[in-house]
Amino acid sequence: MSKPAKNPAKIQTMFSSIAPRYDLLNRLLSLGRDRYWRQFAVSRLPKKQASQFLDVATGTGDVAVEIIKQHGPDTRITGIDFSEGMLELGKKKISDLGYQQLIDLRRGDVTSLDFEDEVFDAAIIAFGIRNVPDYKKSIMEMARVIKKGGRVVILEFTSMQSRFFQWIFRLYLEKILPFLGGLISGRKTAYKYLSDSVMDFPPPEEFKKIMLDSGLKEVEYHRLTFSIVTVHVGIK
Ligand SMILES: C[S@@+](CC[C@H](N)C(=O)[O-])C[C@H]1O[C@@H](n2cnc3c(N)ncnc32)[C@H](O)[C@@H]1O
Repeated sequence: MSKPAKNPAKIQTMFSSIAPRYDLLNRLLSLGRDRYWRQFAVSRLPKKQASQFLDVATGTGDVAVEIIKQHGPDTRITGIDFSEGMLELGKKKISDLGYQQLIDLRRGDVTSLDFEDEVFDAAIIAFGIRNVPDYKKSIMEMARVIKKGGRVVILEFTSMQSRFFQWIFRLYLEKILPFLGGLISGRKTAYKYLSDSVMDFPPPEEFKKIMLDSGLKEVEYHRLTFSIVTVHVGIK
């Protein structure tokens, strides 16, 4: 494993370059489990009428769409991402579903959110946080823009597994994923970056501490699918 270079400009270009194959590769490389992981993460958002949620690093908008499915049409979602390529595909998906009035996708950076304090009922980020150089700063930003009592929900791959699964998972991450990802997207380096960034990500107990240090309370986490991913939830 090599240390992932978290250069924001490079990450932005990389996601735009894989955008056309992003959804397909997600389904394929996770054997369809990514849908369930997002469903679970979205189910941790607070349930109340007419909520306003922020979907950070929204990519092609799958989390935002799942929120509408679970929370209904009186919910409003703002999705932000810094990759124009990902946003373009997300906007097309949302318009094909007729959700333009419910989901607003715009350009933005996780590390410096362009919103007033305490605007949203909750903020969620799926497979985005491991890409930022400073986790705490980004979590604090998400916490800043949500109301008191609101939640921050973070879905991310888990770096540390049980010994047995770690062996299989590493084999998958280091060999199979870059190979298949490279073959289908034509961008092997992007999928090599994916595996490096997953293995570099802190294990759940350590990440929980980072969330607590960022000012969130009652932080809990749920490991899904043999711990391949973890959903962290913290309250403001
Ligand atoms: C793996 S994709 C996840 C997309 C989506 N949340 C999902 O569940 O499929 C990661 C996304 O994070 C975005 N991203 C990474 N760093 C970012 C930053 N600092 N600000 C905004 N978006 C960022 C990338 O452009 C990319 O669209």
